[in-house]
Amino acid sequence: MYTPNLRLIDLEPKADDFLGDVEKGLNSASKYLSPKYCYDQIGSKYFDDICQANDYYLTRVERSIMKQIEMIKLDTAKPVAVVELGGASSTKFRELLKHLSHVQMYMPIDISRELLFSEAEALAKDLPDLQVKAVCADYQQLAQFPWQEHLTGMTPLLFFPGSTLGNLSMEDTHALLKICKAIVSDDGYMLLGADLLKDEQILVNAYSDSDRANERFNLNVLHRINRELEGNINVDQFRHDVRFNRAEKKIDINLVSLIDQTIQISGKDYHLKKDEPIYAESSRKFERSDIETLTSTHGLQPTEWWTDARDYYAVILLKSVPI
Ligand code: AVJ
Repeated sequence: MYTPNLRLIDLEPKADDFLGDVEKGLNSASKYLSPKYCYDQIGSKYFDDICQANDYYLTRVERSIMKQIEMIKLDTAKPVAVVELGGASSTKFRELLKHLSHVQMYMPIDISRELLFSEAEALAKDLPDLQVKAVCADYQQLAQFPWQEHLTGMTPLLFFPGSTLGNLSMEDTHALLKICKAIVSDDGYMLLGADLLKDEQILVNAYSDSDRANERFNLNVLHRINRELEGNINVDQFRHDVRFNRAEKKIDINLVSLIDQTIQISGKDYHLKKDEPIYAESSRKFERSDIETLTSTHGLQPTEWWTDARDYYAVILLKSVPI
């Protein structure tokens, strides 16, 4: 069936080189594995389990804040175009729609083509008055994309939920905020979800939850290496290690070798010492002033904050201002 309000734009992001990246990470002086490889089919299911885990409050609190927002008032006479970073699943957008008026277009951006395009199609069929333009791309490709062509006559609202900004390095955070500014141009808005700095034990528990969902999720990358790259890793010889780095206000997740061992991946050997970490992921936690400073540098000014009663999490409306 023809869906006139749907456009699928495929920038054909370069496929991942799993083996190449694993070799590079494990040959490095400080070993690391990119967190993006945690999300295979099994890992994505484990990630859903994390979001359900009692100790992992982020997803739940963000959802409850979104539900409690009355109306998001944008100072514009033009129709609104919501652009969502990492918007393969349309669940959060459907909630956002209840709190906005005059939304004419939705542009979800994601790297997972299949999920992105199938969800976009379902949404376009559900909401025939909404123009849906799904963009399959990686972050780097967004810098070159002709946003203004797609967004003429509309006020962009860039939606970036999930506190995913916290998983980027400082350098990547600045690079991404620069892209955000390019998308919203001079008169748009951004709606950002951010996990706030809080008691250390609550943070550590969120990433080493008592249901052990985080542990399964993070260790899954080792199983995935065994499955896909002819690895012989005994995953029981690793432990999932979570600690809070106070100086940098971030959770650090490592997979730590329990013994001196040699693992084999696609015919190559890698040695790990007892207690040697493989760095997996960081999750930065923000104070309000951190967000103010970061975003203002890029011409995005916080104008409204929504938080929960405990101040665990914030949803922030930012307005584009001249730099
Ligand atoms: C939803 C991507 C922000 O950092 O809290 C959760 C990722 N990794 N547990 C987070 C994650 C391990 C998560 N993000």
